[in-house]
Amino acid sequence: MAVDLLLGLQWGDEGKGKIVDVLTSKYDIIARFQGGPNAGHTLEFDGQKHVLHTIPSGIFHDNSVNLVGNGVVIDPVIFKKELDNLAKHNIDYRSKLLISRKAHLILPTHRLLDAASEASKGKAKIGSTLKGIGPTYMDKTGRNGLRVGDLELEDWKERYRALADKHEKMIAFYDVEIQYNLKELEKEFWTAVETLKELTFIDSEEYLHQAMKDGKSILAEGAQGSLLDIDFGTYPFVTSSNTTAAGACTGLGVAPREIGEAFGIFKAYTTRVGSGPFPTELFDEVGEKMGRIGNEFGATTGRKRRCGWLDLVALKYAVQVNGITQLIMMKGDVLSGFDTLKVCTAYKYKGEEITHLPYNIEPENLQPVYTEVKGWKEDLTKMTDAESLPKEFNDYVDFLEKELETPITIVSVGPDRKQTIKR
Ligand code: GDP
Ligand code: IMO
Ligand code: MG
Repeated sequence: MAVDLLLGLQWGDEGKGKIVDVLTSKYDIIARFQGGPNAGHTLEFDGQKHVLHTIPSGIFHDNSVNLVGNGVVIDPVIFKKELDNLAKHNIDYRSKLLISRKAHLILPTHRLLDAASEASKGKAKIGSTLKGIGPTYMDKTGRNGLRVGDLELEDWKERYRALADKHEKMIAFYDVEIQYNLKELEKEFWTAVETLKELTFIDSEEYLHQAMKDGKSILAEGAQGSLLDIDFGTYPFVTSSNTTAAGACTGLGVAPREIGEAFGIFKAYTTRVGSGPFPTELFDEVGEKMGRIGNEFGATTGRKRRCGWLDLVALKYAVQVNGITQLIMMKGDVLSGFDTLKVCTAYKYKGEEITHLPYNIEPENLQPVYTEVKGWKEDLTKMTDAESLPKEFNDYVDFLEKELETPITIVSVGPDRKQTIKR
């Protein structure tokens, strides 16, 4: 069977965790393919809220296997905390969690390097989650990294020491004030590594090929969003992996022809956390209101998310780059009560109106051009079927569908698993 993809189309936090959880009952395997603990995927059901960082969002279901693919970077310390949380909720993760031997490891010194790099950038900082993502992917592409499979080698500790020592020299080279106690950090790291080693490590590309041959269904879970993609995002204010569809091929070892549906997920408005350009960002009461009602605070860092209107130009770009076949719109409930909604349908770019995402989207070059649509007043959070959705809401969705030339098949009207409506 084909591999379906679930991809964030904006700057992350679209609601991927919730939708993967909703879709999991249809899949045998849920596989994360990139990113690491910079991600924070929130799931809500039975009155409980769970946040996952590295573990795939299918872990709460009994019948699916959850795979951490080769494209993911794993911090054993954060991974252990996630496992401890699952254990608290009596989730028997051992029987359904697999880890690729080729996934790279985030060492304590990668986190320190992230902090040093950000501190050295001053005002130009990326606004990284400081989880060591950039330095770990740099070691991967620089061919210096350590992988999960290395934990099974005799000389693993020597390999660790050599890389950590090299990192310490690099930290000193940055010439910034970074306070740390590596001995303490390593103590915690070694404990977490032992926990990680109790899990099942596999040659995941082989496993997935066999699963496909056996007719198993697979959903690849993305992290971050297309506008944070290392190639197609708002570089340099991006993450260090390919968050787009192609990343699923390299991050799992799946061929392009094996890809089936590509679900693209977006919020009914836009948010961004961290630095970087954001054409439709609002600095007024309207933006404040979206953030307040939408509870827009980062699931990993707790930082306030910047809010703004939906940017259809950027969304179209993401649909195109990923080959999205179905769209899922989140957080429609947050927009209830606005008399008028604005949607950015073009940019004024260097005095000219354009409808594509140009190389440079810094505010001095580019201003959004808005189309206004009528808002709705009804509270959507109690609605359970498409028939009860208000006319203005349906008009908004129809308008987006037409502009994006892609069907919006699911709308989400609240954080809970049950607040999900098929169209
Ligand atoms: P992810 O990183 O894409 O998984 O998204 P996050 O978990 O970081 O952020 C999405 C936030 O929105 C979480 O707090 C979810 O519980 C919440 N959420 C998801 N869908 C909806 C929705 O339809 N309405 C509302 N109000 N909240 C939602
Ligand atoms: P999920 O999977 C939102 C942002 C950071 C920063 C930039 C680089 O929950 O959608 P990094 O730590 O990767 O070096 O940070 O990317 N960022 C995210 N923003 N959601 C995420 O993940 C993010 N992961 C990274 O805020 O601007
Ligand atoms: Mg998130």
